[in-house]
Amino acid sequence: MSIFPDMEQLADRVAVIADPHANLKGMELCYERIKSLGIEQILCCGDLVGYGHEPNEVVEFFREHNIWTISGNHDRLVCNQAPPEGWNPFALKKIKWTKSVLSEANYAYLCALPENMTTDDYCLVHGAWSDSDKYLFEEKDFFEELEHLPATLVFYGHTHMPDVFQFLLAEGKYDYRHLSPSQDSDVYVKLLDRSPVMLVSFINPGTVGYPRGMNNQATFIIWERKTGRISYHFYDLF
Ligand SMILES: [Fe+2]
Repeated sequence: MSIFPDMEQLADRVAVIADPHANLKGMELCYERIKSLGIEQILCCGDLVGYGHEPNEVVEFFREHNIWTISGNHDRLVCNQAPPEGWNPFALKKIKWTKSVLSEANYAYLCALPENMTTDDYCLVHGAWSDSDKYLFEEKDFFEELEHLPATLVFYGHTHMPDVFQFLLAEGKYDYRHLSPSQDSDVYVKLLDRSPVMLVSFINPGTVGYPRGMNNQATFIIWERKTGRISYHFYDLF
């Protein structure tokens, strides 16, 4: 399913996930938890395939459960929508294997995914709005993005790190904060009263399928649109 909801179609509480990377168990675990919280709608920041061993199963899971998703850099490379230069040999080998095993229907679905999406209120990108392969790690990376943004709430993936970067902008000045949630916790992405101050929030839900380093923790977030509350949920992947 590649048609995205506008704000009228979105429920008040929506799950946002990223980077499942062909890990069916990760998808099933997060889906069970999301369902147990009473959430019906899921948005994903891409990278359905790559690294993992179950690309068909994960793509089918997305199709069967109507999960709205954009593509990631691994998806685009599988679909010849991005150049292979600069990739490490391990990841590239898995891309070639993924391409060789994907069914025709799953390949067609993957290759039809949009690179990003936006409404007036939020946008979904894989790396960054200006460049979906760009990694957002530090203040200057985010600051460069501010002039490009179509919305003040940005959900992004690609780094596989649960991260929150927020800019408070007023009268040509800004204040900035970075949070790295490491346990279940909340953050707010909208100002409670209208004012000349603007809050821009970059929210990375982390990964549901491929934590980097020695960490086996997967994460997803629940976005409550009315209150602007973002809740991080952590769970053990294995
Ligand atoms: Fe990824």
